[in-house]
Amino acid sequence: MAKPFPFQIRNLKPHEAEKMKAFSGERGGFVRVGPKGYVLTQGFRDIAAEIYNLVVRLSDVYVVSYARSGTTWTQELVWLVANNLDYETAKSVLLTDRFSFIESTMLFHPKLLAELEERLKNNEVKLKQLGAFSHSILRKVAAAPSPRFIKTHLPLSLLSPKVLDAKVVYVARDPRDATVSFYYLCRSSRNAGFDGDFKTFWHYFINDLHYWTPFFEHLKEAWEKRHHPNLLFLFYEDLKKDLSHEVRKVCKFLGKQYTDDQIAVLCDHLDIKNFKYNASVNNEIWKELGLMFPKEGFIRKGKSGGWRDYFDEEMTAQAAKWMEENLRDTDLRFPHLQ
Ligand code: A3P
Repeated sequence: MAKPFPFQIRNLKPHEAEKMKAFSGERGGFVRVGPKGYVLTQGFRDIAAEIYNLVVRLSDVYVVSYARSGTTWTQELVWLVANNLDYETAKSVLLTDRFSFIESTMLFHPKLLAELEERLKNNEVKLKQLGAFSHSILRKVAAAPSPRFIKTHLPLSLLSPKVLDAKVVYVARDPRDATVSFYYLCRSSRNAGFDGDFKTFWHYFINDLHYWTPFFEHLKEAWEKRHHPNLLFLFYEDLKKDLSHEVRKVCKFLGKQYTDDQIAVLCDHLDIKNFKYNASVNNEIWKELGLMFPKEGFIRKGKSGGWRDYFDEEMTAQAAKWMEENLRDTDLRFPHLQ
C-alpha cells in the first residue's frame, strides 16, 4: 500500500522566489520540502510520493550526493565494480541509461521540453533521446530488472524509509568546489539557466536558495548513517588523493574482488584525462539535444581546491565561517581539511 508523502511541500516565500528567478531556465519555480526545507522544483510535487514509495530491492545500488560532488565519477566506478568490470557495456551504453536519475523529471519543465522537441522535430533519433527526459523514469525503474542502479541528489530523508535495505554509496565534496562546479553547470544548462554572477550564486547557496540545499543537512543525514553496513560514505577529495584505495573500499562494500592489475586499469578508465572524453559518461549528448549550451562541459576540471580561483577575500572568510558554524554540532570533517 502506497503511503502518503509524509512531508509538507510549500512554496518559497515571495522574496525567496524573487531571488530564485535568477535560475531563469526553471519555468515552474521552486518549493521547500519537509522540516529541513530542502529546495526542489515545483515538479517535485508530482513525483514526491512515487519516490518515497519506490519499493527498495536488496540488490539495488544507489549513488547519493549533493550535486557536483563527483556523482558521475562515483557512478561509473560503482557500476563497473558491481558489473565485473564490463567495459564493453560501459562504453556502449550511456551511464544515464545504466543508472536511473530518479528525480530527473522535476528538472525538465514540460514547456522547456516542448520547445526542444520543436527544434528537433526533423530528427527522429534525437527526439527519441530527448523523450527519455520527459517520461516518468519512475515507472521504468519500478519495472526494471535487478540489479538496479539508481542516482539521486535527494537527501536520504526524502527517499524510501527502507533505502538502506539497498546498498547506498554517498559521496561528499568540499562545498566551495561543489558550488563553483554547480555555477558552471547552472549557467550552461538550459533548464537551470542561472543568469547571475558567481558571487550571487554563492550567496544563494549558503542561504539555502538553491537546488537540493541546505547543503550541510544533506551531508549530515548520510554521515549519521555512515556506520550502517549498507552505507558507504566517500569524499571526492579522497577519490582524488588515492583513487585505488577508494576503489578497494567500493569493492569490499559490494563484495567484489579484483586483482591489482584490474584495479589499475579501472583507475585509468576513471582518470579525468580519459573520463572527460568518454562519450558514455560525459553527457556531451545533452548539447546535441539542446539541454546544455555548448560553452561548458558537464565534466570540467576535476580538481580539488580549484575554488580559490573564484573566491574573493570576503567570500573566503564567509565560507570559513559558514563551514565552521555548520560543522560545530557534528563530527563530520572533510578529510583534506584535517
Ligand atoms: P568540476 O566542475 O570541479 O570539474 P557530478 O558528477 O556530481 O555532477 O560532479 C561533477 C564534478 O565532478 C565536476 O567537477 C567534474 O569535472 C568532476 N569529475 C567528473 N569526473 C571526474 C573524474 N574522473 N575525476 C575527477 N573529477 C571528476
